[in-house]
Order: sequence, then C-alpha cells, then structure tokens
Amino acid sequence: MQNLVRSIALAAILSAGAVSGAFAQGKELLTKSGCLACHAADKKLVGPSYIDVANKYRSVKGAEDKLTAHVLNGGGGVWGPIAMPPHKHISEADIRSMVRFILATK
Ligand code: HEC
Repeated sequence: MQNLVRSIALAAILSAGAVSGAFAQGKELLTKSGCLACHAADKKLVGPSYIDVANKYRSVKGAEDKLTAHVLNGGGGVWGPIAMPPHKHISEADIRSMVRFILATK
C-alpha cells in the first residue's frame, strides 16, 4: 500500500514535470524559430493568434499532423489570403512540439 501511494505520487510529480518541460520548450522553440515575428499568443499579427488556432483545432482529430505539415510546407487559404512561408530548415520533431504547445494555448 505504502509503495502504491509512493508510486502514484511519483507518477504525478513526473507528469507535472513533463508538462511544464514541454511548455518551456515550446515557448523557447517558438521564440528561436522566429514564429513570434508573425504570431502572438492572444492577438492576430500577420498570422492568427495561437489561442484562435487552439480553439479551432483543439477537438479536431488529426490536427497535430495537419498543422505540423502546414508549418513545415507553408501555405495559405485557411485563415486568409496571406500564406505562411515553409519552415523546412526546422526539424519535424521540433515543429510537432511547437504545434503541441500551440494546441495547449488557452
Ligand atoms: C512570415 C510570417 C509567419 C511566420 C514566420 C510563421 N507563420 Fe504561422 N502562419 C502565418 C500565416 C499568414 C498563417 C495563416 C495561413 C493560412 O491562412 O492558411 C499562419 C498559420 C499558422 C498556423 C495555423 C495553420 C492552419 O492550418 O490553420 C500554425 C499552427 C502556425 N502558423 C504556426 C507557426 C509556427 C510554429 C511558426 C514557426 C516555426 C510559424 N507559424 C511561423 C504566418 C507566419
């Protein structure tokens, strides 16, 4: 019983650490990848705000894959006539982690 309690507590600590780690990494990557030149968390700049993106896709199945591909390849027509440039110089894994961060924006 004692062990069970201990492992539940440990699991809670580990998952909390993972969440805040992903959060910090997401923000750092967005900053160093230049995304924040065109996007802000809560207002439209050149591109949509990340809150608007999260609200649009939060419950959409496959959104993570679709958005990762859109950021990687660039393109427009979803939010307006302005296209996002491709980001082929950034690894797909990094883009996916930024997309997860964006989808978690509230
Ligand atoms: C030069 C400006 C610019 C930069 C830099 C930029 N974006 Fe965008 N982004 C846009 C525009 C414009 C749109 C809207 C495109 C559309 O309407 O289809 C957009 C759309 C998006 C969307 C929503 C796509 C969809 O299918 O709904 C995501 C997610 C996104 N950007 C993430 C990023 C990330 C992550 C980065 C950094 C790696 C980034 N953007 C860098 C301009 C930019």
